[in-house]
Amino acid sequence: MNAALRALNLSLDECVQRFPERIIRFAQPNYDAVGKETKELILESRKHSDRIFIQKREDHADIYLLRGDRILFYKDKLRQIDGRIVTGELLTNVWLDIPYQGIANEGDVVFPKSKKPEKLLQRVIDISTNPGDLVLDSFAGSGTTGAVAQKMGRRWIMVELGEHCHTHIIPRMKKVIDGEDKGGITEAVGWKGGGGFRYYRLAPSLLEKDKWGNWIINKEYNAAMLAAALCKLEGFIYAPSDAVYWQHGHSTERDFVYVTTQNLGHEQLQALSDEVGSDRSLLVLCSAFRGKPDQYPNLTVKKIPNAVLKKCEWGHDDYSLQVENLPKPPPKTGQMDLFGEDGE
Ligand SMILES: C[S@@+](CC[C@H](N)C(=O)[O-])C[C@H]1O[C@@H](n2cnc3c(N)ncnc32)[C@H](O)[C@@H]1O
Repeated sequence: MNAALRALNLSLDECVQRFPERIIRFAQPNYDAVGKETKELILESRKHSDRIFIQKREDHADIYLLRGDRILFYKDKLRQIDGRIVTGELLTNVWLDIPYQGIANEGDVVFPKSKKPEKLLQRVIDISTNPGDLVLDSFAGSGTTGAVAQKMGRRWIMVELGEHCHTHIIPRMKKVIDGEDKGGITEAVGWKGGGGFRYYRLAPSLLEKDKWGNWIINKEYNAAMLAAALCKLEGFIYAPSDAVYWQHGHSTERDFVYVTTQNLGHEQLQALSDEVGSDRSLLVLCSAFRGKPDQYPNLTVKKIPNAVLKKCEWGHDDYSLQVENLPKPPPKTGQMDLFGEDGE
């Protein structure tokens, strides 16, 4: 190996301790908080971008400035513990150089204490995704992740349980899409607006256990919610008919679903079978039935909740992701979107 390219036989820690005066980072000084002399020096250093300015100080480390930024030396971060010089403090990590000052109005939403700079999310998304990838933020807050992902050409999913979903995230995303959000990284990435999003409200658990441990339908579900949920689970399109009481949804022009919490007897099932007729079929989801369901050739009769018990996990407090049991991705066909529906 060339002598000038010799490898240093040092760990990172040892290297930092050996050359602490050569390891630096830049930090934006808080202009409003520094003294008059430092302010003047900052302004001077901005004017002369090729020179380093020094302010000598008695009781503190000297201030070195380049282009208005402070140069911090790792030597000032070393500590002596039990007679040994140790790396007492992080000089920096890749995130801390992004200032939080001035982000209060990013996205036109105020979210004190929790909001992150768009620039920070830009870095995270930039190093971990490619355009078109999906970005998930399940603690969305004021919606910074979605706003930045949208501006960077990524798709995104955000989850938020707070009311600020309506007061912050939705208005913010609308502005991003309409090209009305001029702040954050808009200018840096040349964002002009575009795209769209869908908003879903998570329903309560469909099934819950009663005091004897039996699965029952959650009392928060009314008839329409129950029919819509069961259509989704059974693969039917929810489209309740005004004219025909048993048509809550359909899978084809001739295949329908009927959802009821009633206990159906033979007469009712026979009447249903007669109405459906021989050229149509009907899935009947009911709380209970009497008689033999296979005596009606055009009806399939199933009990709720048995019919849906295996379709989801119900009533957990913790739905921790089981990575080894991830469902297989759906086959790629046409323009299906993430939820298996046509995109808007
Ligand atoms: C620290 S804030 C996120 C701030 C965000 N990064 C931003 O820049 O605005 C965390 C958010 O997570 C939400 N949250 C907490 N637990 C949640 C849960 N189980 N499901 C969905 N959101 C949750 C809180 O309501 C809060 O808005």
